[in-house]
Amino acid sequence: MAAPTEFKPVIVGFLCNWCCYGGADLAGVSRFQYPPHLRVIRLMCSGRVDLEFIFRAFARKADGVFIGGCHLNDCHYNPAGNYDALGNSLIAKRILANIGVNPERLRLEWVSAGEGTRFAEVMHELSARIKSLGPLGSSEGKPIAELQAGLQVATDLVPYIKLVERERFRVAERTEESYHKLFASAEFDRLFQELILDKLAMGRIMGLARSRPVATGEIAAGLGLPTPDVLRHLNVMAQRGLVRLEGNQVQAVAVA
Ligand code: FES
Repeated sequence: MAAPTEFKPVIVGFLCNWCCYGGADLAGVSRFQYPPHLRVIRLMCSGRVDLEFIFRAFARKADGVFIGGCHLNDCHYNPAGNYDALGNSLIAKRILANIGVNPERLRLEWVSAGEGTRFAEVMHELSARIKSLGPLGSSEGKPIAELQAGLQVATDLVPYIKLVERERFRVAERTEESYHKLFASAEFDRLFQELILDKLAMGRIMGLARSRPVATGEIAAGLGLPTPDVLRHLNVMAQRGLVRLEGNQVQAVAVA
């Protein structure tokens, strides 16, 4: 019998040119060993990592996504892009969790160009964690197609999410503490649910009801949402003329 093949995770790494990429380079030049699972994409700043890049990487079956930026207050640009990367990663983690992707598959780290050892250590830790989670979908207990459908809805929402982020998710000051404080607040939870997660849920319901009539129970099970939440979304969607409700069957209304 053939021995089971070892799982080799695919981790997409977005590295800032000025710091983390330098750290990766130094690790290589110094011959520090680390697992070869990272597929590097070099960017000028971690702030350039759009939410869409993260969702698309997972939709293309990346098992993990890594963002490496300069240490806070060391970003080469003004305003500092790494605070944008911090905000984006906190938002992305919430959305990933909501659509069923383990948010631990996304990791943000600050690594300077002089920290080759640290870069290698981070790669060891990240690779071990992603290996323990297994291929995308396995620790989640969901088929890839289901996760991809959710990721597509999230990708479609990105322009709207950016608008909400800019207008409603403002931090008092650009410090790491302020970001974590904002994202841990009850008011932020409420706004995030109302402005983003409810829209995401409605988009995912539309995706399910577009090709055939579906039962409300099927929607609740498929999206992992409580039935009262599904009914609340369906009422809003029916009022907006997006779906037709017949008994417990839901069908998307075709747009002329
Ligand atoms: Fe490195 Fe902005 S230049 S994070």
